[in-house]
Amino acid sequence: MKSVLFVCLGNICRSPMAEVIFKHEIAEAGLDYTCDSAGTSAVHAGEKADSRMRESAKQREYNLEEVRSRQFEKSDFDKFDFILVMDESNYQNIRALSNRDEDIKKVSLITDYCKNESASEVPDPYYGGENGFFEVIDILEDAIRGFISETK
Ligand code: 4NP
Repeated sequence: MKSVLFVCLGNICRSPMAEVIFKHEIAEAGLDYTCDSAGTSAVHAGEKADSRMRESAKQREYNLEEVRSRQFEKSDFDKFDFILVMDESNYQNIRALSNRDEDIKKVSLITDYCKNESASEVPDPYYGGENGFFEVIDILEDAIRGFISETK
């Protein structure tokens, strides 16, 4: 079974949202993948997703209540086939954890799979307004549908 890990900075906004959208999409498509999400930082480890992200998720009919933050671990390179990061700084942070080609080639920017959205990364919504959270959902839906259609 193929496996996917979504990675952002805090694992409380973008990557848990990606995990939940991905689970919804694979269930709809009748596909089987293992998936999880993680943050490059441990600052929010053990916490629920950000309340603003949870509320935006709910308004778009996703349930973000069960996800808890965890930090990315080096062993994740062995556990996952695809490591999809949200922005360039996530990419650099993950990149710095391994020198092995087989690890690094698993890592890509999730927006590389976008078909309709023109975003080159998923913007960090943490310090922005409420609209940032809906923008995250819009970009992730497009990227995840693109990823599934390319890799299934
Ligand atoms: P995330 O958003 O990486 O999408 O989970 C952030 C969450 C927390 C912080 C920054 C970004 N922070 O600085 O605590």
